[in-house]
Amino acid sequence: MKQSRLFNYVEEEADSAPSEMIRPKDCCKLCGLCVGRTNLVLPSGDLRSKVVFVGEAPGETEDKLGRPFVGKSGKLLDRLMKDEGLDRSKVMITNTVKCRPPNNRAPTEEEMAACRQFLESELYEKEVIVGLGKSSCRDLLGYEGKMGDIVNKDRSIVVRDREILFIPTYHPAACIYNRDSTDALRATIRRVRDEFL
Ligand code: URA
Repeated sequence: MKQSRLFNYVEEEADSAPSEMIRPKDCCKLCGLCVGRTNLVLPSGDLRSKVVFVGEAPGETEDKLGRPFVGKSGKLLDRLMKDEGLDRSKVMITNTVKCRPPNNRAPTEEEMAACRQFLESELYEKEVIVGLGKSSCRDLLGYEGKMGDIVNKDRSIVVRDREILFIPTYHPAACIYNRDSTDALRATIRRVRDEFL
């Protein structure tokens, strides 16, 4: 895959990035995650899509390749999207933080806060945000409870001056051995396909 010299995005994606979208510098040291970083992991897909899926944080494969959701969770997300007829390239996919936390732990409040300006610039102008899992819901909704209580129940968040629909759902990693979570994530994907694409 051809990478842009200026961005860690694939070239066509970088070219289409909305002007308000900002990215960390390659040498970013806004939080301690810089220490173990191989690559920044920036949004992928259609950066102008009205739909964005927000995951937790890059894992080992994502850190190596500089692309979100390309490891085991990504493969499952790809399969579910394919099954449900949602073309991954028609949505934007990003994470709460752009660097891999050590041992794949969840990002801390401080790490998410350090990356918030970038995430906000990615979410601005979206019509719907799909929050994949606990970290995404903690960061964007301030929600600390059980995912089962909020999955597929509409919320909204304010990004700068805009109110945006937020659909909480399970992270693909939580679906790997769980049929009910998989069904719930499939339902989210179907809804996005039917109502927003
Ligand atoms: N899990 C995430 O939350 N994001 C990725 O990019 C990969 C795995």
